[in-house]
Amino acid sequence: MHWLDQLRDELNHRQQQTLRRSLRPLDRCARIVRHGGSVLLNLAGNDYLALASHPHLRDAVIEAAQRYGVGSGASRLVTGHLDIHAALEQRFAAFKHAGAALLTPTGYMANLAVLTALAAPGDLICLDKLNHASLIDAARAAGADVRVYPHGNLDKLVRLLERHGRAARRRFIVTDAVFSMDGDLADLPALCELRDDFDAVLVVDEAHATGVLGDSGAGLAEHQGVAGRVDVTVSTASKALGSLGGVVTADPVVIDTLVNHARSFIYTTAVPPTQVAALDAALDIVRDEPHRRVRLAALTRRLRVGLQQRGWPVPDDPTPIVPLVVGDAAATVQLSERLQASGYLVPAIRPPTVAPGASRLRITLRCDLTDEDVDRLVDAIGAPAKPK
Ligand SMILES: Cc1ncc(COP(=O)(O)O)c(C=O)c1O
Repeated sequence: MHWLDQLRDELNHRQQQTLRRSLRPLDRCARIVRHGGSVLLNLAGNDYLALASHPHLRDAVIEAAQRYGVGSGASRLVTGHLDIHAALEQRFAAFKHAGAALLTPTGYMANLAVLTALAAPGDLICLDKLNHASLIDAARAAGADVRVYPHGNLDKLVRLLERHGRAARRRFIVTDAVFSMDGDLADLPALCELRDDFDAVLVVDEAHATGVLGDSGAGLAEHQGVAGRVDVTVSTASKALGSLGGVVTADPVVIDTLVNHARSFIYTTAVPPTQVAALDAALDIVRDEPHRRVRLAALTRRLRVGLQQRGWPVPDDPTPIVPLVVGDAAATVQLSERLQASGYLVPAIRPPTVAPGASRLRITLRCDLTDEDVDRLVDAIGAPAKPK
């Protein structure tokens, strides 16, 4: 069979299982979006603080483009970097209560940089079962002994560390801070203790916590009172911070090691000045407008309580990622389509992003939604279907 026909067959097979994905145009990232010909309330994506189209970020990008142009020209190790790269890294390190920081083009590449530069064959990497794909890919690429513990099950993690960690050169405990499809939290204080007990390295991906949790918006470590105690933190500008770019924060010797060994940092072009400026402007807003976080938290409670009152088993987590687990992929797509027909953009998340039988709507909130937006959404969702 011709290889293109093989690909068509594979896509058709996914279609039959209601698992085929497709790209659809969106006019912009804002509260109201035009999507596939309809005008919808945006309850998708990760623009929690509504910064993706914020004028302060936009103006900062324009100013940076006028001053520096739009490209950085090469990898930083080849040509050097701009003053704004260094200034932003210093600012971000302070924001994260860390000694140093390193910018990468995306969060995905930051995770790749961390695990491939710090871990190698002979090391043990322990991953939470629900960690983001970028951490799984990074762990595999590192060539270490990769072990997976059931989601949040620290007894199993201890057993892995006892059984496989003693002989390893280094032991890594790697977790999302906020799990991206469930919106629940890692227990960072407990993980810090295990890190100490087993002389391990704790790597935390704060992608969905940065800008959202903690008094200053620094993330889950701050929220749970362990700011500065995580060994390596990965943040991304692509969620609450409204644009794109990864940042690793850690001890300076870790950052120096990444500069020397992380292929996804060394062999790629430096983050463009426009992107650095957007991230810097986002940090201004996180610092100056805490009411955005407060508002987001209030909307989060409103939605979770509203859904619970309708009979949905929605947990009380303090994050704007609210999973509505339906189970069956086709039923989840139907619910998503019904909501779209009523004016709501709420994506259906299906395998392989989540486990088979755990298809769900992933509702995400942004701080510029109104209380009425949330109440009307809850009405539109209604009660869960009764099991047949
Ligand atoms: C937990 C987590 N880590 C990392 C990433 C990757 O970040 P980025 O989109 O900046 O590549 C994402 C999202 O895509 C994520 O949800």
